[in-house]
Amino acid sequence: MAGVLLLPGDGIGPEVTEEARALLVRVAPDVELEEGLVGGCAIDAEGTPLSDATLDRARACGLVLLGAVGGPRWDALPVEKRPEKGLLRIRKELGLFACLRPAKVIDALADASPLRREAVVGVDLIVVRELTGGIYYGEPRGRSDRDGTRRALNTMVYDEHDIARIARVAFETAAGRRRRVTNIHKANVLEVCKLWNEVVEEVARDYPDVELEHQLVDSAAMVLLRDAPRFDVLLCPNLFGDILSDEAAMITGSLGMLASASIGEPGRGLFEPVHGSAPDIAGQDKANPLAAILSVALLLEHGLGRPEEAARVRRAVERVLDEGYRTLDLARGPHTRVLGTREMGKRVREALS
Ligand code: IPM
Ligand code: MG
Repeated sequence: MAGVLLLPGDGIGPEVTEEARALLVRVAPDVELEEGLVGGCAIDAEGTPLSDATLDRARACGLVLLGAVGGPRWDALPVEKRPEKGLLRIRKELGLFACLRPAKVIDALADASPLRREAVVGVDLIVVRELTGGIYYGEPRGRSDRDGTRRALNTMVYDEHDIARIARVAFETAAGRRRRVTNIHKANVLEVCKLWNEVVEEVARDYPDVELEHQLVDSAAMVLLRDAPRFDVLLCPNLFGDILSDEAAMITGSLGMLASASIGEPGRGLFEPVHGSAPDIAGQDKANPLAAILSVALLLEHGLGRPEEAARVRRAVERVLDEGYRTLDLARGPHTRVLGTREMGKRVREALS
């Protein structure tokens, strides 16, 4: 029997994960659930943001549903010891090299976007982000003070195998969609991107039905605001994907809507909302649980191989939004009915039918 390890984490993580859990229990009652600690709460309880024991359980389950990590309480810690390290470690150790972040404008939310309605209607893109390499993990890294001057460095490094495998995920994904890959790079400045583009072009030859275009990351940030509907799959190195996925999320209305699936070898995956721990609203029943709930849809689809159940969850979310219900982050105009985290979760479960 498939098992899922729940790692609610910090801030609003536990609140939104609770709604995700309740939904998962409804749609997949046979799936066994376990729970563990990650991030700041793990630092407090176990002295480390991700213990070896928790990592072993994640490996044994194969599938992880995560809430969020981090908060001001742990902000003074050095990078090596921060809550985020728990997330970076689990991604790396489980070999989850591909992060899929779909950003689709739901009709009912077109007016919740900070952009004009015309600029967002029809947006249906997916960021395919490389997740276990690049500048996040590159060596050398760290402080390297010299002659009394403070100095620090990080390294953006990829080899051809890292690039080819994430490129394949992007092309496979595009093949099942609108068949267009936009490769995001900064090859006018960075050698690593030059190699990245070369390898992406080699992989593209195996996918003659998929159109490939290259786009500089700075210009992509601009085109996302001007003409996001033109994008299908955005293939990104780790850091560029981190940045552009937040921008893409905002186009769809709120960061509170964006879910993600981090995948690697079959049977393994980590599913999490893209929003962070939002400490300013934690514990107040204000957070939007929909990104966590949509992460359950991705878990059903990519982790458990149950696409019908995934579609059922997405339909339930759309139904509740169609009825005019919103969490605070999505509320615009006088006709919206603002719900708290728990009530929103409950409505979605009721809408499952
Ligand atoms: C994300 C987050 C993480 C990242 C942080 C929390 C380490 O911003 O998943 O996008 O940078 O990958
Ligand atoms: Mg991010």
